[in-house]
Amino acid sequence: MIEMIKSRRSCRSYTEEKVKEEDLKEIVECGLLAPSGMNTQGIQLCVITDEEVLAQLEKLMGRDFFYHAPALIVVYSDPDNKYAAYDGSCAMAQMYLAAHALGLGSCWINQLKDVTDDPKFEPLFDKLSLKGKIIVGALAVGHANKTPKERQIKEGRAHWFK
Ligand SMILES: Cc1cc2nc3c(=O)[nH]c(=O)nc-3n(C[C@H](O)[C@H](O)[C@H](O)COP(=O)(O)O)c2cc1C
Repeated sequence: MIEMIKSRRSCRSYTEEKVKEEDLKEIVECGLLAPSGMNTQGIQLCVITDEEVLAQLEKLMGRDFFYHAPALIVVYSDPDNKYAAYDGSCAMAQMYLAAHALGLGSCWINQLKDVTDDPKFEPLFDKLSLKGKIIVGALAVGHANKTPKERQIKEGRAHWFK
């Protein structure tokens, strides 16, 4: 687990290979098992692998915002969930690590959370049961095309009182 945490990186280049459904199911389960405030389990996931829907999302956004990953897992919640951002981030982190443990690349995709009120997205969000929800983020998942460089930790970010 510690090795997985230390070696996880965001992936921004994917091959065209699809992600096996059993791997996606594993990632989803790891996301749903994330901690949640008072165990409310208010976070929900929308797993998109439908090529047409992925293409529509890209077209509506007007640019390649999820790096042509073959799968996108949208982390969302009802708008009255006061823990949504925290719980959703926990789910995102667990799924990031689960994907890595399965040998897959993944990346947090932020853009969808800013278009939930955009009427242009409404019909598609309605179809995806995302209409009226808050989107915390989305995880792009696929087979990595590149090996990421090692990451450096900025200095002075942890201090101790012994
Ligand atoms: C809240 C949040 C939003 C992010 N949004 C994006 C995004 O929209 N697109 C992207 O390529 N990466 C996004 N990232 C990934 C970060 O850029 C990445 O985690 C950071 O550069 C550190 O790199 P690493 O994940 O490889 O350690 C996001 C990460 C977080 C935590």
